[in-house]
Amino acid sequence: MKTLALYYSRGGHTKKYAEALGAEAVLELVPTRRVGILKALALGCIAAARGRAWRIEPLDVNLSDFERIVLLAPVWAGGAAPPLNAALELLPPGKTVDVRLVSAGGKSACRERIKAKITERGCALGSFEDIKA
Ligand SMILES: Cc1cc2nc3c(=O)[nH]c(=O)nc-3n(C[C@H](O)[C@H](O)[C@H](O)COP(=O)(O)O)c2cc1C
Repeated sequence: MKTLALYYSRGGHTKKYAEALGAEAVLELVPTRRVGILKALALGCIAAARGRAWRIEPLDVNLSDFERIVLLAPVWAGGAAPPLNAALELLPPGKTVDVRLVSAGGKSACRERIKAKITERGCALGSFEDIKA
């Protein structure tokens, strides 16, 4: 299955997992505004906990060219870091979407919300894994 990995990583941990997948293409989700630690801890945690998206730079790829899309992001305040929520909004219908969330504790609290968004986009959740960094 032709696979695209889309990841956001502020500190580099999630990037390592994205690159280790062996996907045909691996692209970074780049927020349009720089994310310093204070922004991540304040605004980022609120956005992540509420499932909100941050604007990201346009992706230099056609998502329709891939059958499977793997989305990866760190966990912030129990939710996926907001660039992952931006990627969810770009999903074309009919894809299998796998989610990998990387965190210090190895647990997220946003599985159902992400699953609902994937379904709303006409895609299917293949797998959802919490990874302890
Ligand atoms: C703003 C912020 C919030 C975080 N919130 C959580 C959390 O709720 N639970 C947890 O286990 N780890 C939390 N972490 C730790 C990160 O999820 C963990 O360090 C992750 O590996 C970072 O990935 P990255 O290096 O790709 O950015 C948080 C880190 C940051 C910067």
